[in-house]
Amino acid sequence: MDLSDVEVSLDLFDVIRSRRSVRKFKDQSVGDEEVVKVLKAGVWAPSAGNLQSRDYVVVRDGEVKRELVKAAEQQFIFDAPVVIVVCANMERASEKYGDRGYNLYSIQDATAAVQNMLLTVHALGLGSCWIGAFDEERVSEVLGLPSGVRPVSMLPIGHPDVDPNPPKRYPLEKFVHEEKW
Ligand SMILES: Cc1cc2nc3c(=O)[nH]c(=O)nc-3n(C[C@H](O)[C@H](O)[C@H](O)COP(=O)(O)O)c2cc1C
Repeated sequence: MDLSDVEVSLDLFDVIRSRRSVRKFKDQSVGDEEVVKVLKAGVWAPSAGNLQSRDYVVVRDGEVKRELVKAAEQQFIFDAPVVIVVCANMERASEKYGDRGYNLYSIQDATAAVQNMLLTVHALGLGSCWIGAFDEERVSEVLGLPSGVRPVSMLPIGHPDVDPNPPKRYPLEKFVHEEKW
């Protein structure tokens, strides 16, 4: 892979606000350069003890993608030229943090990376969607994941062929509790 950087130049809050889940892609390739940029965004996410208890599997192969589609029962994944599967490395987190590392920090490490990656995908003018609904065992088997590594999210990445309306958000009052709930 080419390790050079791609220019990203949007105001952060605009990127956060305008990112959408994209489920329809153009028949257009995504270069390694962009994929590396997205991966690096994951690398720079925070992690418990800086152990970076997460791993990434980059899938371009049609046959492997087909298996991922079956595991998720979500056909649009196939149309993305690249799918990055973000995994929690429970084993790595547990070495320092025991059960809490295994069950919680590894998942948090992985999902912090996912959000950075989704924002970077969007800032690059590409689209993706956080895929969380899939048969974990099937994905682990297809990708040959070692034990102690759990697939947490699949990110199909491509050029958007849709401009989704923002789904409504609840008002802050519903979630924000002052001093005590
Ligand atoms: C944990 C999690 C799991 C998700 N799983 C799926 C999924 O399997 N398939 C899908 O199409 N979208 C999935 N989504 C995307 C949500 O449907 C989407 O983020 C939500 O509707 C808000 O839309 P927005 O991302 O455009 O703001 C998931 C999102 C999260 C955070």
